[in-house]
Amino acid sequence: MKIAVLGSGGWGTALALVLLENGHDVTLWSYTQEESAVLKEKGENPLLKGVPLPESLKLTADLSCVRGSGAVVLATPSFAVRTTARAAAPLLDPGAVLVSVSKGIEKDTSLTLTEAIEQEVGDAHPIVALSGPSHAEEVGRRIPTVVVSASKDRSAAEQVQDLFMNERFRVYATDDVVGVELGAALKNVIALCAGISDGMGYGDNTKAALMTRGLTEIARLGVALGGRRETFAGLSGVGDLIVTCTSMHSRNRRCGILIGKGTPTEQAVKEIGAVVEGYYAAANARTLARKVGVEMPITEAAYQVLYEGKDPRRVIVDLMTRERKHELEDSWV
Ligand SMILES: NC(=O)c1ccc[n+]([C@@H]2O[C@H](COP(=O)([O-])OP(=O)(O)OC[C@H]3O[C@@H](n4cnc5c(N)ncnc54)[C@H](O)[C@@H]3O)[C@@H](O)[C@H]2O)c1
Repeated sequence: MKIAVLGSGGWGTALALVLLENGHDVTLWSYTQEESAVLKEKGENPLLKGVPLPESLKLTADLSCVRGSGAVVLATPSFAVRTTARAAAPLLDPGAVLVSVSKGIEKDTSLTLTEAIEQEVGDAHPIVALSGPSHAEEVGRRIPTVVVSASKDRSAAEQVQDLFMNERFRVYATDDVVGVELGAALKNVIALCAGISDGMGYGDNTKAALMTRGLTEIARLGVALGGRRETFAGLSGVGDLIVTCTSMHSRNRRCGILIGKGTPTEQAVKEIGAVVEGYYAAANARTLARKVGVEMPITEAAYQVLYEGKDPRRVIVDLMTRERKHELEDSWV
């Protein structure tokens, strides 16, 4: 199948290579001419060092590559997903499936990314979110990876399974799109917190607590918005949380480590060099949680550190000394 991958960062490039390996006719679109020229000239993506780009991978900065494609993968940072979908919409073939692989919540609208895409391309195109514990650096090196394909449209979710699956890349399918997308977006906030904790020199106990209670509040918001609780125990939930909070591949965690060591937030975000989704997600998730009336103390604390310059040590003390709670909210009711 002819497939266009829009966004030639680490993730778009790694997924383009999976699709190419599966025998598809793949074009990787870059946002700028310069970015496309670098890929052509170097024969690799500087964000995926040591992973050669085969000649058969078509490289372009011309969005008309979308024409004639049976599937279009959107792999830009979350803030650019809507504008990219809008630009691609008039070029889409009827019935082309859209695959959203970015992780975030849209600023201002608080929509998930597939919801934003649907607003731009209409409901004639099936839309699928592909998500899970998957560092581009590892997928690029063909390290076994397992993700989930989520769509309200079963045949589209299964079509995306078939497009991507091979002996190194396994894909499960689900209909819980909200659960998958919220898990993906919100774990980046927790990864920043895990990094801050590591950067401050706190230990495994603190990080495990942040991850566990972080997942609890992610699921609380997700369920309030219609996601299924089990999804947060799945690949796009705890799976992605583990990979993001424990790995040095995670730019969110690395950014957090810098902040925990005292680097001002804006400088830390800049130093990482690629998109730090957790930074944006902290503000967007906080807005969404307040809108829905769901308590998310760790996300709130992350916001105070990232946007209000509050000392992380003070924030941890505040979290530790909140009023006492039951671990399970329905205990003794
Ligand atoms: N890197 C990973 O391991 C990984 C894994 C899973 C999901 N993701 C998600 O995929 C998305 C992209 O991540 P990435 O790692 O490839 O990011 P990246 O920072 O490496 O690259 C993003 C790409 O988007 C392009 N871009 C920047 N501004 C743009 C704009 N205004 N319009 C269109 N394109 C624009 C950039 O030129 C770049 O090619 C993120 O939402 C991320 O959370 C990343």
